[in-house]
Order: sequence, then C-alpha cells, then structure tokens
Amino acid sequence: MPSIVPAGVVFLVLGGVLVYAFMQISALTGTVGSLSEELASTTAVSSQNTNQLSQNITDLRAQNAGLSNTLSSAQQNIDAVSTKVGGVEQTVDTLNKLSQIDPELLKKYSKVYFMNENYIPAHLVDMPNEYLYNEKISQKFLLEALPFLKKLFDSAKASGTTIYVQSAYRSFRDQQSLKSSYTVVYGAGTSNSFSADQGYSEHQLGTTVDFITTGLGGTLNGFDATATYRWLLANAYRYGFVLSYPKGNSYYVYEPWHWRFVGVELATYLHSGSLNFYDMEQRAIDAYLINIFD
Ligand code: DAL
Ligand code: ZN
Repeated sequence: MPSIVPAGVVFLVLGGVLVYAFMQISALTGTVGSLSEELASTTAVSSQNTNQLSQNITDLRAQNAGLSNTLSSAQQNIDAVSTKVGGVEQTVDTLNKLSQIDPELLKKYSKVYFMNENYIPAHLVDMPNEYLYNEKISQKFLLEALPFLKKLFDSAKASGTTIYVQSAYRSFRDQQSLKSSYTVVYGAGTSNSFSADQGYSEHQLGTTVDFITTGLGGTLNGFDATATYRWLLANAYRYGFVLSYPKGNSYYVYEPWHWRFVGVELATYLHSGSLNFYDMEQRAIDAYLINIFD
C-alpha cells in the first residue's frame, strides 16, 4: 500500500533543496567572481611586468647604442692620433734624409749662385781610369753620384757608344787658374762667354763632367756632331744627367759636352718636358733635392 506523503512535507523538502542549491550557486558565483578578480589583477600585474621588461630592453638597447658610439669615436680618436704620429715620423724621416744631402747640389750656379773657395764636396773619389780620355790626368767625382755615372758608361758601352771624361771636379783654385789662362789667351769678353769665374762653375760641385769622344783630336769642338752626343741627348737623363748649356741659353755658349748630374727624377722631368734646368725656378728645383740619389 503506497503511503501518502502530505503535500506540505513535499513543498518543505523541495524548498529546502532549492534553498540549498541556491546557496551553493551563490557560493560558486562568489568563488568564480573572486577568481575572475584575481585573474584580472594577475593579468594586470603581468602586463605591467611585461611593459617594464620592454622598457628595460629599450633602455638597454639605447645604452648599448650609446656605448657603441662612444667606442667608435674613441677608435676614431686613436686612429687620428696614429695618423698624426705616422705623419710626424714621416716628417722626421724626410728631414733626416734631407739633412744628409748637400743643399748646393741643385743650386743654379752659372753667374747666379756663388761657392767660396772653401766649398769642397764632402766625398770626392777618383773616377775609374777607363772613363778618362787622358789616363795621366786623374779626375774626381762625387761619391754618391758615381754609381749613376757608372750606369751611364755601362749603358753607352753596351750600345757601342764611345765616351770618355775630359774634365770633372775642379776646385775653386783650379777654376781660377783655368779662367785666368783663358782670359790671357782670348780676352775677358770671349773667356766670359765659355768659362765660369771661380765660385760659379758647376764643376766645383763634383757632379759635372765634360764628355769627349774619339775622332775629335782631343778637343771638344765638333762634339755635337758625334754619335756620342746623340746618344747622350737620348739617354743621359735615365742616369740623372742634363745638358746645362743648350743652344740659346742665356749664360754661356752652347756646350754640348757639359753635363751635370741632377738626379734621375729631375732629369726625367726636364727631358720629358723638353725643359732646361736653368729655366726652372730655384724653388721648384729644390723640391727634387730629397730624391737626387734615388
Ligand atoms: N764651361 C763652364 C761654363 C764652366 O766653366 O763651368
Ligand atoms: Zn764643363
């Protein structure tokens, strides 16, 4: 027999269940709410941290860029100082080299500059006998320029050109007595046209030679018609020699035999431009002094 539960009891039980469920739901809702809040606040903190980290990274990058700039300008300063030191060292080398070269060697003598009787080149040596036209009369030449004269002789010989030296270094006194004897024989006017006064001759430098060749009877007349002269015109510059008194110069008569050592660089410059040593400014000539023996 089914027992009959009174409706009041059923409502009471149902009401209790509903109240319980409601309480549970409320409790759950509260929990979800606080969890949400917690999550929201955690997210906000985490987002703040991320921002901070980003900022830190940006700051570090900026610092890094700043350090790189500092490093690179420090490197530039070091480079600039090194360049300056290099420049100073080079200048010192140049001055040292120049101080060992006789500044008279490229001066325009010939009635312009004067060398007194005490001027004697520091290193004069006897020329090899085979260069001499008259072996009984020794000739001196500047030691530092002798290798260039040797090359000239070797090259002339190799090309079958006969060449000799008739006169090279002449001291102040040698030039004085030579000029005096010319003056006695030819008179002052004529001797001045082909012979320098003492102190004005390139021969006093020890770097100048009068060349001669066979077939002229021991004189210099007619030298410009010889194969030796033509060879010199085409080749002497390669060994640093130039013709001091070409045709039409304003110092002396044409002297095809008289060649002066001025260094390969200057001789090449003059040869390639068909220029004469005495037509250059002394200041421009002086720039070649440092390389005269190169
Ligand atoms: N013959 C030249 C000019 C000299 O005497 O030096
Ligand atoms: Zn001469």
